[in-house]
This record gives sequence, structure tokens and C-alpha cells, in this order.
Amino acid sequence: MSHPSHRSHWNSRWTFMLATAGSAIGLGNIWKLPYMIGVNGGSAFVLVFVACIFLVGIPLMMTEILLGRRAQKNPLDGMQALAIEAKRSTAWKYLGGMGMLTGLLILSFYSVIGGWVLAYIIEAARGSFSQITATQSTANFDALLASPLQLLGWHTLFMFMTMSVVAHGVNSGLEKANNILIPSLFAILLILLGYSMSVGDMHAAFQFMFKPDFSKIKPVAVLSALGHAFFSLSLGMGAVMVYGSYLQRNVSIARTTIYIALADTMLGLLVGLAIYSLVFANHLAPNAGPGLIFQTLPIAFGHMPAGGFIGMLFFILVAFAAWTSSISLVEPAIAWIVENTKIKRHTAAWAIGLVVWILGTAVVLSFNEWKAIKIVFGLNIFETLDKLTSTILLPLGGLLMAIFAGYFMNKHHAQEELDLNDQHFKLWRFTNNYIAPIAIGAVFLYLFGLVK
Ligand code: TRP
Repeated sequence: MSHPSHRSHWNSRWTFMLATAGSAIGLGNIWKLPYMIGVNGGSAFVLVFVACIFLVGIPLMMTEILLGRRAQKNPLDGMQALAIEAKRSTAWKYLGGMGMLTGLLILSFYSVIGGWVLAYIIEAARGSFSQITATQSTANFDALLASPLQLLGWHTLFMFMTMSVVAHGVNSGLEKANNILIPSLFAILLILLGYSMSVGDMHAAFQFMFKPDFSKIKPVAVLSALGHAFFSLSLGMGAVMVYGSYLQRNVSIARTTIYIALADTMLGLLVGLAIYSLVFANHLAPNAGPGLIFQTLPIAFGHMPAGGFIGMLFFILVAFAAWTSSISLVEPAIAWIVENTKIKRHTAAWAIGLVVWILGTAVVLSFNEWKAIKIVFGLNIFETLDKLTSTILLPLGGLLMAIFAGYFMNKHHAQEELDLNDQHFKLWRFTNNYIAPIAIGAVFLYLFGLVK
């Protein structure tokens, strides 16, 4: 397929890496992975999660980038173009469409949590963490959750930040933002880690996260771990596909993928270590749920020298990470609109932003006024959106992409895009065609068994 020249491309391989890493690294690593490890029993979850990253995540990330680079289009038109090239049904385009919607659903709660982070930058800066006790910290967090207006204000600001980058487009917006944000993010994380190592209980954190205890592996944990592997690597909805479509020809997809997946996984686990070493040193509960980092970290920051400042840096880091991720959740839908209609990029961005903002308002209310409203299986609005996307829509999207690339696409086209030697290509094909679909399929079968 030829590359239309009007389509903008990343300036360099480095920029693509930064952007894709920026998409992968986000609240998933810093907010979600730590609390999921706690809720799902520690090391057992970590083990399954890492296995899912290697056996399913890495091959499927390659698959998604290769589909995107070959298609050179947004996910919906891209899947259609690929289906036509492979002489298959154009119904494959609905896979791209499903991904775009999934991204918007995720963004609706992602933005609310991003808002919590913004609120905590200010809390830290105001010195509210100083000498705080566990009870006070939990009370502070509960007070934030109990205030729909505050949550709404922060959610609005976060959506605004996301959409103003997206409105500027891939070259001027995404690249510039990422070039500044990702390196700063790494720098700030190093400071935090250094601190946790000196005052926290690293030994207990290590035991909790890595001491294998197979008796603790529960089926539900496997389900969550697989879903989180997708969430953490930004897979299954076309975000990576769209970034791949802006990628130049001469870049190795396999090498780039491995770097990004390793960086993402390492970072998540390191943040986990930093957090749990603080949790255990302060005798806090590891299984606090979505509030974990907000309830526990202020206690640590409140007792360390320059804790207000370090705490502020930490939450700025998280906000940056969340920002570069949220951009990729909405980029596929924007690309689709811009490439299919006469609507201008900024108009599209603000319109879609408004829709997501409204849905996010429902998420905000699900933490207070609408807390008691259960959608399915006793889950409230936030929990439903989270579970629906992470454990169903993303793995389903990934499964279908794997099936398309493995069984419907011309094998030589896949090989051409991946540009691997025969042995490595066979390895990708084996994991893409068998391991990943079987793993996802098994989890789905279990899931349906659960429903029964
Ligand atoms: N991976 C991001 C995180 O860990 C979230 C994210 C961004 C995402 N884009 C995505 C998740 C696309 C699924 C699909 O925070």
C-alpha cells in the first residue's frame, strides 16, 4: 500500500517511541497497577500480569503497530482498507469502530481519575499533607470524593488539557508535548524511588510483590491481570494502531515494541515497589482499592523532609503521565472524523471532548450522589465502565486484531511490515496465532462461566 504524502509522520523513531511509551505509561502504571496488585493478593497477580505482558502483550502490540503502519489510516478506515487488500469482508471496519468507542469510554473515567491527580498537586503544594495521620488522609480523600463540584471541576480541567493538545494535531501537538513530558517524568520518578528506598520498607514490598505464592492465584486475578496487560500497554482499541500509522517505514516494529513494553512494565513495577515500601513502612493496608495512592502516599509525604515539595512533584509526574495517555485514547476517533468529514480537527476535538465530558460527569456522580446506582453485577457506573473496557472490550479487540493479522491478512504482507527474519517471524506468528487467542479465549470462557 502506498503512503499518501499528505499524511504526517513522526519526525523520528525516537519520537514514535516517546509517543507510544507516553501512551502506555499513565494512570495504569501509577494508580491502577499498584491497587490491583493489592486487591488481587500481591505476588500472584504480579506473576500472571508479567506473563500476560510477554505472552500476549508484546506480540499483540507488534500486531497492532503493523496493522496501523500498513493501513496508514485511522482504525475504522484502516481495518476496512486492510480487509479490502486481503480480499476479505469490509465488516472488519467495525473492529476499528469498536476500538474508537472503547477509547472514549475509557477516557470518560480516566479523565475523572486524572482530575483527582490534579487536585492532589494542589493539596501537596498547599502543605495539607504535613504530619497527616492515616485517618486524616483517608478523610481528606473521602471529602474530595464526596464533593461532586470539586470532582467535576478537576475532571473538566483534565478534559480541557487533553483536548487542547489533541486539537493541535499530531505533529505540532502530540510530538511536542511528548518530547517534554516523558523525559521529565522519568527524572521525577527517579527522585521518588530514591526516597522510598531510603525510608520505606523495601524488603516487605519485595516480598509482597515478588515472593511466589501459587496458592493465591485465583481465576478472577488472572482475568484482571490479562485485562490490565491490555490497559497498561494501551492495546486493543486502536491507539497504538493510530500511532503506528504515523510511523515511518524504516523503523523496526519488533525492537520498538520490546523497548516500550519493557519500559512500561518496569516502570509500573518500580512505582509499585516505591508505593508498597511506603505502605508497609507506615503500616497501611495494601488492598485499599482505587484510593490507594491518594490515601497512602500523603501520609508518607507528610512525614518526610521536603515532603510537600516531593509530593507535589510526584503528582505532577502522574498528571504528565496521564495526560500523554489520555491523548492517545481519543486520537483514533479524531483521526477518523478528520479523515472522513470536512470537520476541522479542533472542532472535532472539542465536540468529542464534550461528549466524553458528559459521560465523565456520570462517573463523577458514581463516587457520591449515584454511588448506590448499580449497573450490572453490583457494579456502579465507574466500576462498570472500568470492567467493561479492561476485561471485555480491550481483550476482545486484541483477539480480533490477532485473528485478522494471523488468519485473514496475507502472510507476506505481515512479514513485509514486521521485516523480521524467518525465525523471528515464526515466533511472532506462533504467539499471535495461537498463544494470544487461546489465552484470551480461555479467559473469556471463564468469564461467561462466571456470568452463568
Ligand atoms: N496505557 C495507559 C495507562 O496505562 C492508558 C491508555 C492510554 C490506554 N491509551 C490506551 C488503555 C488505549 C487502553 C487502550 O494509563
